[in-house]
Amino acid sequence: MTETTEPIKRRSFLGVAVASLLALAGGFVALLAGGFLYPVRKKKGKPIFVCQLSQVPKGSTRTILDPAKRKVILIHTKEGELLALSTTCTHLGCTVFYRPEKRRFDCPCHQGVFDGKGNPISGPPKRPLERYPVQIRNGLVFVQFD
Ligand code: FES
Repeated sequence: MTETTEPIKRRSFLGVAVASLLALAGGFVALLAGGFLYPVRKKKGKPIFVCQLSQVPKGSTRTILDPAKRKVILIHTKEGELLALSTTCTHLGCTVFYRPEKRRFDCPCHQGVFDGKGNPISGPPKRPLERYPVQIRNGLVFVQFD
C-alpha cells in the first residue's frame, strides 16, 4: 500500500477556515436567539431575616442593609403596614432621606420627592423606589430582596 501525501492547497485551507468561522458565527447567533426566545428565569431568593417586629414598632422606621450593603428603610406605618423601600433614588442613584413627619422621601440631588410608599410625586424621578416584599413570621421580619 502506498500512502499519498498531498500538500494542503492554500485555496482549500482558506475555504475550510472561512466555513469554520461562518459555522462559529452561526452558532453564536443561534445562542443569542435561543436566549431571547427562551430566557432563563431568575430564581427568586429566599426572604432574609432582618429584625424582630418589636424592633420596628408602629409609627417607626429602621434602616437595614440589603445583601449588597445598600440601605433599605423599613417603615411600619401607624396603620400597621410594613414596607421595605430602597433608599436609592430612581433618577440618578443618590440616597433619598425619609421624612416621617411628612411621610415622604426627599432626594437632595435634584429635589426629587417620593411619597411614603415610594411613588414619585415631584421632581425628575419617574419610577417608584424599589420595594421589597416583607413577611412577618412568629414576630420576626423577613425581606425578600430579589
Ligand atoms: S438623583 Fe434623585 S432626583 Fe436626581
